[in-house]
Amino acid sequence: MSEQRAREPDAVHTPNPTAGSSPDSAAGADNAGPQVPETVGVYGGGRMGAGIAHAFASAGARVIIIENTEETVAAAKERIDASVEKSKSKGLDVTGTVEVVRDPTLLDQALLVIEAVPENVELKQTILAAIAKYAPAASIATNTSALSIDELAAALPRPHALIGLHFFNPVPVSDLVEVVVGTHTQPELVGVAKSWVAGLGKTAITVKDSPGFASSRLGVALALEAMRMVEEEVASPEDIDKAMTLGYRHPAGPLQTTDIVGLDVRLGIAEHLETELGPRFAPPQLLKDKVASGQLGRKSGQGFYTW
Ligand SMILES: NC(=O)c1ccc[n+]([C@@H]2O[C@H](COP(=O)([O-])OP(=O)(O)OC[C@H]3O[C@@H](n4cnc5c(N)ncnc54)[C@H](O)[C@@H]3O)[C@@H](O)[C@H]2O)c1
Repeated sequence: MSEQRAREPDAVHTPNPTAGSSPDSAAGADNAGPQVPETVGVYGGGRMGAGIAHAFASAGARVIIIENTEETVAAAKERIDASVEKSKSKGLDVTGTVEVVRDPTLLDQALLVIEAVPENVELKQTILAAIAKYAPAASIATNTSALSIDELAAALPRPHALIGLHFFNPVPVSDLVEVVVGTHTQPELVGVAKSWVAGLGKTAITVKDSPGFASSRLGVALALEAMRMVEEEVASPEDIDKAMTLGYRHPAGPLQTTDIVGLDVRLGIAEHLETELGPRFAPPQLLKDKVASGQLGRKSGQGFYTW
């Protein structure tokens, strides 16, 4: 797809200035390998935003988190402190810094701003427009799990500056980032974003803007088939999961994973994928029944397993 796309006129930022590039810093000592921007903005310091901030700070960046109230600023600070303490207790160094503020004008110092506010199109479009206003030259990333990059980009004066960076929870220890490429995303930004992901010590996969990206689409497809097998009494949930954990070396089976993610969350994704991609993603009746009866998985104590 990227070869087909027309190039946008203005240049994207290259990953300079980069964190760790001072002569006496460890990362700058050999000045080699991928790095991350020196200053990164994160809009929304919740579960994912705090994790993303932690990951960039671990790579040496200065991170500015924007939150909207004094209470949420305090909560985000607590989240960051707890996350950084956990790293330190494992002997891992966090060489960068994280500030949590309410003033979005500080974003003009960032080369990259990542939005991580709740999954709502109107809210995200409002926040993205604010980012474009306060950081007019920055590259912008969205951490959306499922929304269309093209739809979000419609809120921006420079739609080519937007890319999806889909991080996984918990961010500091998860290896994967989906780099989601919209119709208008500038091709150069894709390469730059992948180098930033490498600078975090993570692996990027490149995915065209499409429903469920790669991870949700494949993960949910496997889980829905596993649920249909339970419905058809092909095998017990335990044995279906063992087919994947022992037979295919998956770290967890599709039903156990569904319990951990939340049956309601997976039902919502399946319904979205059914609308976008067709009946192969139609949620099985068993899933709908379990959600209707409050069996949401680990968080409710009961799903395909008892927790
Ligand atoms: N939780 C996950 O496992 C996961 C995984 C991958 C992607 N995501 C995506 O990441 C995004 C954030 O999810 P989350 O789980 O971190 O949500 P969350 O609710 O934990 O965090 C959202 C944060 O945004 C802040 N916020 C809301 N409105 C704001 C505003 N107007 N200005 C500034 N801050 C504002 C909230 O105060 C909160 O701290 C969503 O798009 C979600 O789909 C989540």
